[in-house]
Amino acid sequence: MTEQNLDTIAQAMVADGKGILAADEGTGTIKKRFDTIDVESTEESRRSYRDLLFSTAGAAEFISGVIMFDETIRQSSADGTAFPELLSRQGILTGIKVDGGAKPLAACPGELVTAGLDGLRERLTEYFGLGARFAKWRALHMIGDGMPSRTAIAANAHALARYAALSQEAGLVPIVEPEILMDGPHTIERCREALGEILSVVFQELRLQRVCLEGIVLKPSMVTAGSACPQQAAIAQAAEETVQTMRRHVPAAVPGIAFLSGGQSEEVATEHLNAMNALGPHPWQLSFSYGRALQQSALQAWLGKPENAAAAQAAYLHRARMNGLARRGAYQPDLEKELAA
Ligand code: 13P
Repeated sequence: MTEQNLDTIAQAMVADGKGILAADEGTGTIKKRFDTIDVESTEESRRSYRDLLFSTAGAAEFISGVIMFDETIRQSSADGTAFPELLSRQGILTGIKVDGGAKPLAACPGELVTAGLDGLRERLTEYFGLGARFAKWRALHMIGDGMPSRTAIAANAHALARYAALSQEAGLVPIVEPEILMDGPHTIERCREALGEILSVVFQELRLQRVCLEGIVLKPSMVTAGSACPQQAAIAQAAEETVQTMRRHVPAAVPGIAFLSGGQSEEVATEHLNAMNALGPHPWQLSFSYGRALQQSALQAWLGKPENAAAAQAAYLHRARMNGLARRGAYQPDLEKELAA
């Protein structure tokens, strides 16, 4: 795999007007999502839900790639077509979550470090064979008393960079995902400072581990106030602070930044992305890699019933279209009703 190939994949992942669907919920997380609609989480209910999303006609206009979980990349559509093949026929790239989850970090009570480097080289080779062309690894930070600590920032950045180098070696574009949880009463200023520090250490480590920056996609959280902070920032402020933080810490060699939604409502996540793009031009693409903010209405429309599949697909396609508009700074809340199917 040449660097040229990685560049091309990374650029396709953040192509104009498109973004990524994060459908890589692990078994525990998807159970939580299904619990909210009273659907039992079984291998078959997970398969049929993902089948519905991945078979949505027209999604490829707004969706460049889909991140899957290990179970999902091995599953197939109702007609027997393997999911990676189903997507590839639509021109959508397959991605795979390869981290082993966030575990307690020794000597740092309350903080986490992402596991999964052992055996990663072999797993990446297998995933490439299954059709994956990009990977994802999430590092999770919390803001609190003395948190994020320098220890947690360094440990997570090191793991992210080791993962990124191995992914590129295997021909997969690494999504580098440092997330700050939105839980807690912290101010937007605390969030900005913490994210800036995390990003600065992440890029030092990426350079140290010889990761080619043209062949990655960064997936950070946005700069926002904590969900329990009494002073919530307006959309415009969060957008300005996020863009400023990216300008200060993300090299222009990186082709794109695909934000996670992190518990923002569907419309707020779209509004933030739109406001950031409206502040452009930027040195990188500003895109989305949303999980909840692309799936919430679809789950509510589906309710686990096959007869609701078309309504769920319409809900998903609508969110994809709204975020596609936000990629160009062309979204307006009025369009929610106007363009709803
Ligand atoms: P959310 O957009 O729901 O935060 O999910 C994105 C993701 O992949 C988190 O790791």
